[in-house]
Amino acid sequence: MIPNLNIVPFVSVDHMMKLVLKIGVERFLSDLAAYIEEDFRRWPVFDKTPRVASHSADGVIELMPTSDNRNYGFKYVNGHPKNTREGRQTVTAFGVLSDVATGYPVLMTEMTILTALRTAATSAVAAKALAPRGASCMAIIGNGAQSEFQALAFKALLGIRELRLYDIDPDATAKCARNLAGLGFAITTCHSAQEAVEGAHIITTVTADKQYATILTDNMVGAGVHINAVGGDCPGKTELHRDILLRSDIFVEYPPQTRIEGEIQQLPADYPVTELWQVLTGAAVGRRDARQITLFDSVGFATEDFSALRYVRDQLQGTGLYQELDMLADPDEPRDLFGMLLRAASPPGAVAA
Ligand SMILES: NC(=O)c1ccc[n+]([C@@H]2O[C@H](COP(=O)([O-])OP(=O)(O)OC[C@H]3O[C@@H](n4cnc5c(N)ncnc54)[C@H](O)[C@@H]3O)[C@@H](O)[C@H]2O)c1
Repeated sequence: MIPNLNIVPFVSVDHMMKLVLKIGVERFLSDLAAYIEEDFRRWPVFDKTPRVASHSADGVIELMPTSDNRNYGFKYVNGHPKNTREGRQTVTAFGVLSDVATGYPVLMTEMTILTALRTAATSAVAAKALAPRGASCMAIIGNGAQSEFQALAFKALLGIRELRLYDIDPDATAKCARNLAGLGFAITTCHSAQEAVEGAHIITTVTADKQYATILTDNMVGAGVHINAVGGDCPGKTELHRDILLRSDIFVEYPPQTRIEGEIQQLPADYPVTELWQVLTGAAVGRRDARQITLFDSVGFATEDFSALRYVRDQLQGTGLYQELDMLADPDEPRDLFGMLLRAASPPGAVAA
């Protein structure tokens, strides 16, 4: 894509915002969802491992690698719920895509915005397969950084037009409603999670807390609803009461990771779950009937970031929306790395002192 193989294109936050706005947020989400779905459909080709997590008292830092044998990708991502109180993001990320044949990186990019887009697109891909037919109203509980992206992905992919918003912090709800105003939604701001779920066909929980929280209790979830549980994504960090899990059919990305990090950490290790890729390929059934409660126990898996990296790489050409990073050494003779260093100290034509 980029002619000089020794230059790595780098997409900054500023360039990512320009790229998203140039393409259009909803089109970006729809096109990205197609890449994510395509990669879920070819699930067996990927190298898969639960992400490598380093936990601390305040948060987690994780590395998320995968490869399809042609490209290799990884994301660095953190999760620090207390950060917003200090003016920082809960989640920040960056990632790299490489060429497996040479091992050379072909893209480095910010992934904070890209994570919000890919998480929302993945949620919508799952909901397209699992949500009740004709769903038009979604509750969003947790109105922080991810929330507007969730709303727009569900509008673009499922036609959601009605939103019911709730956050323990009313300022977050006001921010979310303000940002989504004029974008084609009828928005109701609510004073409790109970009020938010009333009449909703889809319930998205996307809160941040470093504990076993109970955002939804069993009595709040009626028959036929689809739950998109996004915020419970670490050991000891869940959002749903266990009884909801027992009444739901549970769909996950990669069971070895979700059993550590997802809502199902509350259940025995052999509790039956269905892998999303199997639903998307038709190997497993998604929604069976109108009364079934479906739960997408989302934690975020490396292939989704890989799809996002592929998508961004494919959009960059001709946009100029990247910087050229000089991060690969390129001596004239590949084995003369030290010679290159010496020549940098005394470039040709320099007069020795
Ligand atoms: N599954 C995935 O792939 C994925 C990807 C990205 C982020 N996440 C997770 O999603 C969550 C939200 O991320 P964010 O970037 O939007 O965080 P954020 O800190 O920007 O927003 C979280 C919001 O949740 C609200 N909240 C906390 N407890 C609540 C409660 N009990 N009831 C209602 N609202 C509550 C907070 O007030 C805040 O507004 C985090 O836990 C993050 O780790 C998951």
